[in-house]
Amino acid sequence: MGSLEGTSAIVTGASSGIGAAIAASLAREGAGVVLAARNEARLRSVAATLTNPERHLVVVADVGDEAAVQRMVRAAVERYGTVGILVNNAGFGTFKPIVEMETEEFDGVIRANLRGPFLCMKHVLPLMYERERGTVITISSIAGKHGFAGGSAYCASKFGVMGLMECTFHEARGHNVRMVSVCPGSVDTRFFDEAHTTSPNRDRILQPADVAAAVMLAITLPEQALLRELDIRPTNPGRP
Ligand SMILES: NC(=O)c1ccc[n+]([C@@H]2O[C@H](COP(=O)([O-])OP(=O)(O)OC[C@H]3O[C@@H](n4cnc5c(N)ncnc54)[C@H](OP(=O)(O)O)[C@@H]3O)[C@@H](O)[C@H]2O)c1
Repeated sequence: MGSLEGTSAIVTGASSGIGAAIAASLAREGAGVVLAARNEARLRSVAATLTNPERHLVVVADVGDEAAVQRMVRAAVERYGTVGILVNNAGFGTFKPIVEMETEEFDGVIRANLRGPFLCMKHVLPLMYERERGTVITISSIAGKHGFAGGSAYCASKFGVMGLMECTFHEARGHNVRMVSVCPGSVDTRFFDEAHTTSPNRDRILQPADVAAAVMLAITLPEQALLRELDIRPTNPGRP
């Protein structure tokens, strides 16, 4: 029997990469998982590979759309009664100098990476406060702590989410709810294909399962223990 038997989790951005790996780890430990993202076909193919596929729920939701987030949370409550774990993972990057960035591109990144976690927490935290129990994991980034040329929109969204998490940590701890920010370095996912960035060596960077293992560590620690912030980096990405 898994350590999360009887627990329910929402994972946003579960159709790919890090989110899919976290959903798989949660399912292996016995949690009922709501897999949320915009692409239903991709969500369904991930859901079909999980341990006990009948136990999980696919919900199509854009995290920047408040009505969609409310529908997602309602679906979780109808199926599982409550939400024990929220994983704010959905997100993407657009990388270019600020003078070349379209305003719509900037808004799009902020909408998914910052407004998305805000909306999910706004609608999930009341359920956790009611039970005086819960864990929120937000997948931020090393780009939430360090800036670089071309990173203005992405870093603004990830620095922003670090602030959101720091403040909600102070609000939520009095309700026994744990707020965990996870800051990965480079991870081998679709993210790199879509952002048109290059990485030193995709064989040497993190795998989605590595980030999922860090997330599971934070979730499965005894409830009085909070891993507030976690950096996970590739050990030696430059190695040939
Ligand atoms: N890969 C890296 O090097 C790296 C490093 C640090 C942090 N991160 C962070 O890790 C998270 C996951 O990224 P990944 O690397 O796993 O990339 P990925 O494979 O491209 O996955 C991104 C996921 O987010 C979903 N998504 C994007 N916008 C969404 C929206 N508005 N509403 C709902 N779902 C949305 C995508 O699904 P749909 O397109 O179907 O909606 C997909 O499931 C992101 O927050 C990213 O910033 C990645």
